[in-house]
Amino acid sequence: MTTPRNGTGARNPPTIAASAADSSLRTSGFEADDRDRRAADERRRIADQFASRFKYELDAAGLPHRHVLKAKANELHRGEDGRRWRETYERLRPKLSGDALIALLGPRGTGKTQMGVCWIVDLIKRVARHGGGSYGVARYVKAGDLLREVRATFQRDSRETDSDAIRRFASYHLLVIDELHELGSEFDSRTVTSIVDARYDACRSTVLISNETKPAFEYSAGPSIVSRMIETGEVVICDWPSFRHAKDGQATREE
Ligand SMILES: Nc1ncnc2c1ncn2[C@@H]1O[C@H](COP(=O)(O)OP(=O)(O)O)[C@@H](O)[C@H]1O
Ligand SMILES: [Mg+2]
Repeated sequence: MTTPRNGTGARNPPTIAASAADSSLRTSGFEADDRDRRAADERRRIADQFASRFKYELDAAGLPHRHVLKAKANELHRGEDGRRWRETYERLRPKLSGDALIALLGPRGTGKTQMGVCWIVDLIKRVARHGGGSYGVARYVKAGDLLREVRATFQRDSRETDSDAIRRFASYHLLVIDELHELGSEFDSRTVTSIVDARYDACRSTVLISNETKPAFEYSAGPSIVSRMIETGEVVICDWPSFRHAKDGQATREE
């Protein structure tokens, strides 16, 4: 004997409307699951795309590992010690998406290399987030290594000419040339000037880093770079205390 469900002893036959509602509920349940799954797949696809582009660009940029780790671990001073560093970093960051020519000068340990690395990592993150565009958006290079790369093109078995190498250095959206105080010969200065000129013509941003004073830097960089810098950028004197010996929040000066 079946139990009556409506108190009349008779079972209610399922109405057309009820069964339609029931089936639409089931369908919308499936649809919702499907939508959630598709949304999760899309989120995973975007995250994978970001991670693979980010890794590619980071590897291609030739950044010093120590400074990348510090930037990733977010170990940069947030307090008073890092205030001027941070202000400079933030103020110039938007300009580097355009065609700025910036020089960071000053004593060792003031975070000039770190700043160049952080600007590159920031650009790479933005590029990886939006995807598209050509690969190899940014490059960090020490002046000595840059010149070795250009000189290597003079070897008979080189596949690149020196003009190819200069064009390659001109192609990155952002180029950071570090340790410019190590430049020596007339050839070195001419090569760096050609690269900076080509980048200026292509409206791409360049950061030059040196431990020299402003007059010494302007003398060794030469009038062409100095006049472009006046037009599209600036010279920043990083004369705050060194981070290298900073202990317990106390930064020190390095000569
Ligand atoms: N804002 C900062 N906060 C904390 N540590 C920093 C900061 N900037 C740089 N450093 C660290 O201080 C050390 C010296 O910085 P670096 O960029 O190599 O100096 P520079 O290139 O001016 O000689 C590095 O270990 C670097 O990671
Ligand atoms: Mg340095």
